[in-house]
Amino acid sequence: MVNPAFDLTGQVALLVGAAAGRLGEIAARALAGAGARVAVADLPSRARELAAKARDPAPAQGRGASAHEVDVTDEASVAALLGNVIAEHGRLDVVVNAAGVMLRKPYDETSVEEFERVVRVNLTGTWLVGREAGKALTRQGSGGRIVNLTTVYAERVGPVPESAYYSSKAGVVNVTRALAAELGPHGVNVNCLAPGVFYPTQMTAALGADPDRLRWFGERTMLGRLGDPATDFAGPLLLLAGPAASYMTGQVVYVDGGWSAW
Ligand SMILES: NC(=O)c1ccc[n+]([C@@H]2O[C@H](COP(=O)([O-])OP(=O)(O)OC[C@H]3O[C@@H](n4cnc5c(N)ncnc54)[C@H](O)[C@@H]3O)[C@@H](O)[C@H]2O)c1
Repeated sequence: MVNPAFDLTGQVALLVGAAAGRLGEIAARALAGAGARVAVADLPSRARELAAKARDPAPAQGRGASAHEVDVTDEASVAALLGNVIAEHGRLDVVVNAAGVMLRKPYDETSVEEFERVVRVNLTGTWLVGREAGKALTRQGSGGRIVNLTTVYAERVGPVPESAYYSSKAGVVNVTRALAAELGPHGVNVNCLAPGVFYPTQMTAALGADPDRLRWFGERTMLGRLGDPATDFAGPLLLLAGPAASYMTGQVVYVDGGWSAW
C-alpha cells in the first residue's frame, strides 16, 4: 500500500537522460514502482539501451513504459518528444531532467567549444525541456511537477577542475526558480535535486582510477560515505516527483550526505 503522498497511479512520468544514466535508471524504476507509466528518453545513439529499459519487466517497469529518442540540445527534437509522449500516453504529469554531461579539465585547457557544449546540454537543455514541458502541462491544465538534476556544486565549486560543469549546473538552479515562478500559477511545481558524489555511475566512473580522491569525497560528507545510487536516490526523487511536493516549488534539495551543510 503506497502512501498517497507518494502514489503516482494513473500518472505519466517522462524521464529524460535514462538510457546509460545510472541515476536515470534508478529514477525510472522508482517512478514505475510508485505506479506511474514511465516514458524514458535519451540520445539516438543510446537507442538499444533505451529499448531494453522500456521492455524491462522488473520492477513494474513494464507498466506501459515507452522509449523515445531525444537530443536535449535540439529544439525540434525536444518539442517532438513532448508531442510523442502525450500522443502515446494521453497525458503528462511528471518530467525529470536527468540528461547531463561533465567535463573534467583545467580552465586554461578548456576550449570555448567544449565549454559551450557542456552549457548547451546541461543548462540550455534543461531550460528547453522545461519550456516544452511547461507549455504541455499548462495546456493540459491539471498541474504537474518538473524535477531538474543539478549537483552539490550548484552554489559552490569542488576541488577538481570542472569550470564548465560547475557553471552550467549553477544555471540550472535559477532556470528552476524562474520556471517555478512562471509555472506556479498553473499548478506546476519545479524543483531541483542536487546530488553529492554518487558512485558508481557513468559520470563518476573515472573516479575509480583515483581511490584516494574517491575516499576523500566520502570522508568529506557528514555521513562519511559516498552516495549509493541503489539506495540513496529514489526516495528524494519521489518526494519531488509526487504529490508530497504539492507545496514545494523553486527549491534545491541536497542529497549529499551533509556535504553542503558543513
Ligand atoms: N553521479 C553523480 O554523482 C551526480 C552528482 C551530481 C549530479 N549528477 C547529475 O545527475 C544527472 C544524471 O547523472 P548520472 O550520474 O546518472 O550521469 P550519466 O552520465 O550516467 O547519465 C547522463 C545521461 O544523459 C544522457 N545525455 C547526455 N547528453 C544528452 C543529450 N544531448 N540529450 C539527451 N540525453 C543526453 C546520456 O546519454 C546519459 O544517459 C546528470 O545531470 C548529472 O549531472 C550526478
